[in-house]
Amino acid sequence: MIKIFDTTLRDGEQSPGCSMNLYEKIQMAKQLEALGVDIIEAGFAIASKGDFQSVKEVAKTVKKSTVASLARAVEKDIDYAWEAVKYAKKPRIHTFIATSDIHMKYKLKMQPEDVIRQAVAMVKYAKKYCEDIEFSAEDATRSNPMFLAKIYEEVIKVGATVINIPDTVGYTTPNEFYDFINTIKTNMSNSDKAEISVHCHDDLGMAVSNTLSAVNAGAVQLECTINGIGERAGNAALEEIVMALYTRKDFYNKRCNINTKQIVRTSKLLSTITGVQVQPNKSIVGENAFAHESGIHQHGVLEEKSTYEIMTPESVGLNTNKMVLGKHSGKHAFGERVKSLGYSLSQEEISKTFRQFKNLADKKKNVFNKDIEALIAGKVVEIPKVYQLERFVINSGNTISATATIALKKDSKIIEESATGDGPIDAAFKAIEKIVAKKLALESYSLNSITEGKDAQGEVIVKIIYHSNVYTGRGLSTDVIEASVKAYISAVNKMMLDL
Ligand code: KIV
Ligand code: ZN
Repeated sequence: MIKIFDTTLRDGEQSPGCSMNLYEKIQMAKQLEALGVDIIEAGFAIASKGDFQSVKEVAKTVKKSTVASLARAVEKDIDYAWEAVKYAKKPRIHTFIATSDIHMKYKLKMQPEDVIRQAVAMVKYAKKYCEDIEFSAEDATRSNPMFLAKIYEEVIKVGATVINIPDTVGYTTPNEFYDFINTIKTNMSNSDKAEISVHCHDDLGMAVSNTLSAVNAGAVQLECTINGIGERAGNAALEEIVMALYTRKDFYNKRCNINTKQIVRTSKLLSTITGVQVQPNKSIVGENAFAHESGIHQHGVLEEKSTYEIMTPESVGLNTNKMVLGKHSGKHAFGERVKSLGYSLSQEEISKTFRQFKNLADKKKNVFNKDIEALIAGKVVEIPKVYQLERFVINSGNTISATATIALKKDSKIIEESATGDGPIDAAFKAIEKIVAKKLALESYSLNSITEGKDAQGEVIVKIIYHSNVYTGRGLSTDVIEASVKAYISAVNKMMLDL
């Protein structure tokens, strides 16, 4: 059995534009648990107060998966990691130290023997707190395999339960990695006393291939992230590893605990939270992953799906029910569709989303699955609203400067401001900034259409900067200006949580 170790909330969150607040990390952790990941790396507890709090809250929330915190191989890091993960039903401390010559010389400024001594001392130290200890040799693939064999052997002797072999800089290749792992194993006397894990980065686009090659060499824990997010070019993508094991079980002959039907949902939740979309041709979760464009392919698939489909859209949780809902659809039909899309919402949540659905159906003739999913995604990541939109008026044209008047509600008080700007959206954002009375910078703005058609809902993602922190907001409406205003307010509300 293969164990899936998800580090979306730690290594994934380290990628630019992918930071998440506490509430979002908890939502993501719940979804990772529903997906069936064995281990959730919830963060790097010592990195910041926010990281510590998130690891602690995720540890309290998650019941089935193991919850890990990263820690450098130093006492203070391990103390923090334990303080945060000790609330978990199944806690793990994940400690690491670099082992390549280049890292030992230039980063650590330590001799190899001292690195071994430090690793052993810290695994022993962590073991006082926690039974489950993972040890990682950072930059392993550029380290001497004999040195690795020695350090892994020693940490296992003092209680490491998992030894991780990271390809930190995405340097190795599949065949080389396979041999490398075998060399390490054959030069250790106790490789069978701990689980072997791998953690591959995608700098050369080989993270998933390297990870799968490691499976053949005996790795039983695979570290990865949703949508492959992570440092630089990212980490191995969970959905690709899992679907390769699933689709090619004839070749790998391995099983894992992932409920593949939750894959698309998890991917979408992450995109909604971070505002970072996957590219359309991305394997498994890209918009086009199951689309057949060429006539020959379409013809083949209509005759017999397996001509061009190696896995079914349903197996990753894509709902292929094309029946559309509209303004005459009732709450029951709506609830059934929500269920068939894989969501288990409470009656109260269904009622709330149904009201939004009705408003949407008034503006849009056909409501598609994607529209419903977009409404629900907004609900799942909803945060306390300090400011709420009351009304807005925009005046714009090609011969006048755009003016926006916006009224927001805060603590039952209505605050109204007007501003002019370079276009209606700029004017609207400036008016909101006046209401909030803070100097905000707009880092990015993007507009997507949820479905085809002139009456499609627009989804706007904005990222604003306040005191060098980035806050992501999302807004949804058939009117793109309204979607923009809502997105800006949602980013402002996230910022308010931090003040
Ligand atoms: O890439 C890496 O080496 C890591 C370790 C801390 C496991 O993320
Ligand atoms: Zn990493």
